[in-house]
Amino acid sequence: MQEYWKNEPIRCLIGRDEICRMVRRLAGEISADYANLVETEEPLVMVGILKGAAVFLSDLVREMSIPTAMDFMAVSSYGASTTSSGVVRILHDLGSPIQDRHVIIVEDIVDTGLTLQYLKQHLAGREPASLHVCALLDKPERREVAVDIDYLGCEVPDEFLVGYGLDLDERYRDLPHVAVIETAGEGEGS
Ligand code: IMP
Ligand code: MG
Repeated sequence: MQEYWKNEPIRCLIGRDEICRMVRRLAGEISADYANLVETEEPLVMVGILKGAAVFLSDLVREMSIPTAMDFMAVSSYGASTTSSGVVRILHDLGSPIQDRHVIIVEDIVDTGLTLQYLKQHLAGREPASLHVCALLDKPERREVAVDIDYLGCEVPDEFLVGYGLDLDERYRDLPHVAVIETAGEGEGS
C-alpha cells in the first residue's frame, strides 16, 4: 500500500495503535456507564459532529458493547483558517428527536470550547434524558470557555493537528494517525 502521507510535511504525534487503545478504553468506559440500556433495549444516541468526528465515531461504536444509534450534526467552525472564528452555526441538524433519550456528543477535538458549549446548551434545550460529551483530543491551553468532557482520549499540545478525521482545508482526514503540520525549518539539522 502506498502511504502518500510519508511524503507530506507532517510528523506523527499519536500513532494508530495508541488511537486504537484510546478508542477501546473510551468505548469500555461508556459501555459500562450505560450498561442498563441493554435491558431497556434503548440505544444510546451518539451524536458525531461533522466532519471531524466521523472517523472517531465509526471506530468508537464498533468497540461498544451496548446498542447505539448514530446521528450527526454539522456546525460551522474554522472554515479555511486555522484559528477559531468564534461563530457557531448549525449547518446540518439531527435526523431524529432526542427528547427522553440518552445522548453523547462525540467530538474529535476540543479547542476553544466554543463549539461544545454551544452544542451542549442547544441540545439540552431538547430535553434529552441525559447529555454527556466524549472527545478524542483536548487542547486545554486554548480553552476560552469551560466545558466538561466526560470521556476523553488524551490531552494534546497547542499545535495544529491533522489526521484521523481532523483536516487542514479538507486535507489529511484520511490519515490513520494524528499528525502535526511541520512548519518551515522543523525537522532539519542533525
Ligand atoms: P472549538 O470550538 O474551538 O473548541 O473548536 C472545535 C473544532 O475545531 C473541532 O471540532 C475541530 O473541527 C476544529 N479544530 C480544533 N483544533 C483543531 C486542529 O488542531 N486541527 C483540526 N481541526 C481543529
Ligand atoms: Mg474541522
